[in-house]
Amino acid sequence: MDGTLGAGGHASGILEASAPDGKLLGLDVDPQALELARRTLAPFGERACLMQASYTALPRCLSSLGWETVDGILLDLGASSMQFDTPGRGFSFLQDGPLDMRFDPLNPLTAAQIVNEWPEDELANVIHRYGEEPAARRIARVIVRSRPVGGTRALAAVIEQALGRRRSPGSSTGRRSPGSSTGRGPRHPATQAFQALRIAVNGELEAVEETLPLAVQALGPGGRLAVISFHSLEDRLVKETFRRESRDCLCPTKQPVCTCGHKASIIEINRRPVTPSEEETSQNPRARSAKLRIAERLPVHHE
Ligand SMILES: C[S@@+](CC[C@H](N)C(=O)[O-])C[C@H]1O[C@@H](n2cnc3c(N)ncnc32)[C@H](O)[C@@H]1O
Repeated sequence: MDGTLGAGGHASGILEASAPDGKLLGLDVDPQALELARRTLAPFGERACLMQASYTALPRCLSSLGWETVDGILLDLGASSMQFDTPGRGFSFLQDGPLDMRFDPLNPLTAAQIVNEWPEDELANVIHRYGEEPAARRIARVIVRSRPVGGTRALAAVIEQALGRRRSPGSSTGRRSPGSSTGRGPRHPATQAFQALRIAVNGELEAVEETLPLAVQALGPGGRLAVISFHSLEDRLVKETFRRESRDCLCPTKQPVCTCGHKASIIEINRRPVTPSEEETSQNPRARSAKLRIAERLPVHHE
């Protein structure tokens, strides 16, 4: 199962590797992505079953096909290149577009609502938490003073104004987002705030947190869950879930006898995340902050 089809690149790799009779369920909440994936995966015919759905709905999607378990699940989190490069979707400040940022066009929350309607405190919290932006309060104050903010370029200008001369592109932490810019060259001062808004609009962290245990449950014994994340908070969620679910007991270490009865359901395949090589990032700069973690499902009655 590919829970984040995008343009279908990974899905097509999975279908090639599982030829001649491997089947793939592919999900994406974005109908435009689904259309792209449909074209990419057309050569695989009925081996690919695609649905417009959130990966949070994974159990329902599997049971609609009559599948109890799967051999592998991939979640490649965040936004796709198509989404970043389509100005009308509002994910990027490189071209002007509406403050939208929704993966799912039926999502009632847009970036415009957060930017133009949310109280200053809540706006600052979003930018601080999801963007890990130290100047979040200052940025929120200047945004609120500049309301209404019309589009992506206007928002980027307001953020630049809030940061003043203190942060020129390239002088920040050195971490890069794969998408709010091309991934090449210095980091724009608005990158972190844009990333934060996107995460809030789409409830990305909540969706990952809700889905990881469901994904583990959906794997047959020996099945693998692979998660690629681009954000430290996402990676932490994946790491903590994998650590917890690979332990037999969650009682405090000082407690002599286990009372929780927790049993490990997975083993971690890699304790350290897999990161792209220099060669890969030079071919695909947007991959540079990617981290891949993999876990394998244990037999259900593991003791
Ligand atoms: C990084 S892209 C995946 C790219 C893909 N692996 C490929 O090979 O082209 C992430 C995709 O996940 C989708 N997405 C984000 N949140 C989702 C969710 N909750 N459920 C399903 N798809 C989601 C986005 O719409 C986007 O198309």
